[in-house]
Amino acid sequence: MIVARSRGIIGQKESPVTVLLAGAHGIGPHRVPTLYGSLFLSYYIDIIIYPSTLGVQSAVQESREEEIESQAAVARMWVSDEVESLGSYVPLPGLGIVPVNAFLIHSTQPILVDTGVIFLREAFLSALHEAIDPAEIRWLWLTHADPDHIGSLMEVLAEAPNARLVTTYLAMGKLSLYGIDVAQRAYLVNPGQELHVGDRTLLAFRPPTFDSPESTGFQDTQTGAMFSVDSFGALLSEPAARATDIPPAALEQGLVRWRTVDSPWLEHVDRGRFGRSLDTLRRMDPSIILSSHPPPAVGMTETLLEHLRAVPEAAPFVGPDQAELERMMAAPGR
Ligand SMILES: [Fe+2]
Ligand SMILES: [Fe+2]
Repeated sequence: MIVARSRGIIGQKESPVTVLLAGAHGIGPHRVPTLYGSLFLSYYIDIIIYPSTLGVQSAVQESREEEIESQAAVARMWVSDEVESLGSYVPLPGLGIVPVNAFLIHSTQPILVDTGVIFLREAFLSALHEAIDPAEIRWLWLTHADPDHIGSLMEVLAEAPNARLVTTYLAMGKLSLYGIDVAQRAYLVNPGQELHVGDRTLLAFRPPTFDSPESTGFQDTQTGAMFSVDSFGALLSEPAARATDIPPAALEQGLVRWRTVDSPWLEHVDRGRFGRSLDTLRRMDPSIILSSHPPPAVGMTETLLEHLRAVPEAAPFVGPDQAELERMMAAPGR
């Protein structure tokens, strides 16, 4: 059993909320796959883990399900004067935790960037409803079609009839494999193109690292804020509100490690060309880097770029094999 005591929405709620999570047997609202569920870390602080088992008894599951506070699993946090993150943490057993952030830009034509994790759908929608009336959303920028970004896509499209879905042709194709047809709602933008959204222009770009070929980020040319998709993601040992809160060595290690996991192709790239792609990003001079996976980073562009530059030299990641998985499952206390 895992007891995760959440402190609620960062900067918005004071009273602790206790979240009890037992491994679940399916994926859906409140539910996570059993191995990950047994090690699930809800967002933020005070987490007490009694390593659970893959086969959590259904009686325990049933008795605890009603205690699960899904709202606590997605936290709102202001990251700039006009941008809120809707963030959660996803565990990678044996590796750490990965932040998963969507963003809401409170501009004259409100922009939602991504729609959270599939298994946190209810929590995401609850946080979104607290942040804005979805009917006010005018643009939904989908950075790519991975399951940690499209979690509430259909619900948001239904509740935000005035929103256009900013995406790419390839992402449309991927969504069609889920049986999702967004042709009537889509607004296709390729890297290098601009999107004018009322009081500002969004410049689309291809992030320097990515795990899906359709990945498309953007820079808000009015504020300089850069939405970098999965680039600069980092494995963490504990939640952090800001990138500057992470000890420098831990940030470097976590970023390099995550990139070897999430962008394994980097070991094959031409170092010179990769370095030039980082230089291009440097010249964009972001005021803040808002990635899907690390906390918001202000004044850290050079540091993050240097960490990325080191990734092609890092040892490739090799995941646990069957023997290691069985050892993990048989560990005392599980
Ligand atoms: Fe991704
Ligand atoms: Fe992602």
